[in-house]
Amino acid sequence: PEEATATPDGVLEIGGVAVTELAERFGTPLHVYDESGLRRQARRFVDGLRARWPNSDVLFASKSLPAVGMYRLAQDEGLSVDIAGGGELQLALAAGVDPSRLHFHGNAKTDAELRMALDAGIDTIIVDNDDELDRLERLLQRPQKLLLRVIPGVDAKTHASQATGGADSKFGLPWDQAERAIRRMRTHPLMRFEGVHLHIGSQILDTAQFAEAVAKISTIGTFDTYDVGGGLGVSYTYDEHAPSVEDYLDAIVAAARANLPADARLLIEPGRSMVARAGVTLYRTTTVKRTGRTFVAVDGGLADQMDIALTHQRYEAVLADRLLEPWTETVQLVGRQCESGDLLVDGAPMPPARVGDLVVMAATGAYAYTMSNNYNGALKPAIVFVADGAARLVTRRETYDDLLATHAPAMARALV
Ligand code: LLP
Repeated sequence: PEEATATPDGVLEIGGVAVTELAERFGTPLHVYDESGLRRQARRFVDGLRARWPNSDVLFASKSLPAVGMYRLAQDEGLSVDIAGGGELQLALAAGVDPSRLHFHGNAKTDAELRMALDAGIDTIIVDNDDELDRLERLLQRPQKLLLRVIPGVDAKTHASQATGGADSKFGLPWDQAERAIRRMRTHPLMRFEGVHLHIGSQILDTAQFAEAVAKISTIGTFDTYDVGGGLGVSYTYDEHAPSVEDYLDAIVAAARANLPADARLLIEPGRSMVARAGVTLYRTTTVKRTGRTFVAVDGGLADQMDIALTHQRYEAVLADRLLEPWTETVQLVGRQCESGDLLVDGAPMPPARVGDLVVMAATGAYAYTMSNNYNGALKPAIVFVADGAARLVTRRETYDDLLATHAPAMARALV
């Protein structure tokens, strides 16, 4: 986190609590968030966008951290929420998010999910395709606000699995087909077509790409609402430089002023840039092996940091309870999953590691918990929010009972 401190004997503190205490109390692997950092970032987006373009709204892309505690914080801080599927809808509703703040995304929404969303009274559905319009024709019983996702044809400079705005994207419709879908919505008595949506990709470090997308979307037509998606990148390592929230807002609002109707409503959907840098993951070392290279293995791995394998994101990690000791060794920080790609940091400088040390991996607040899984029987980690010297558990760690619960009862019993 941006404002981490240390105790006099070199133990990292987050929100005023030493990580040694967090690890003892909640166990490891553990996702720890600096709650005031989360709140500050939310306000930067909400106040920053409103100051530049008053008719606007910031939607938190909740796929980046779909935890009930985070949905509640988002609502507290004046964010609306982007949900992508029935599961995120359930989490948001459980957190008490007002349905009038929910925007429903997805390229493969089912009848059941659409029915659930309509019954809940969500604000807007972002329509992805013609099949979804067929479904809505069958399901709508009341007027419903809709946006249409269009393919802007911007090839974002990012990892291929994070680029979503290029011509062959599976998300949204190309413009010739979009025009037909818009006509269809405009002539349906219950469809309230409000405008268009685009999202060019994630972990984008060049603000000019957002400006390009805003300029392109304006050429398709004049609408009440333009939702320009998320995608602002963050710096994960000391040598990776990301634009600030303010630089990003300046870029999209300048492009909006130049290209969009002055009275249009402007929406953005940040996920990663909202939560990544307020979160860290704590691990405990389980094995230190010196075989030519030094391998330091921890009690988690790619099961809780999928993007080390998916996008090969690079991270920094340090021994969180030995901050004052000189870094005399460069190690391969590895996880416990049965894959050689389970490499958390390729070359982490640290003091000579011992079994039982605490490792902190920085900037893991986005897309870590949400993509965690049960590979090798791993249990999804807990999430803790820390503020003003106090820690609270917002999501508990999975248990072996949780792991067994989904299997046929007879089998689960035999295993216990
Ligand atoms: N809006 C839509 C429609 C999206 O699909 C996404 C992210 C966002 C907003 C938020 O984008 P952000 O501000 O977080 O970049 N699992 C990948 C990231 C996938 C992003 C998916 N969509 C990873 O770990 O890098």
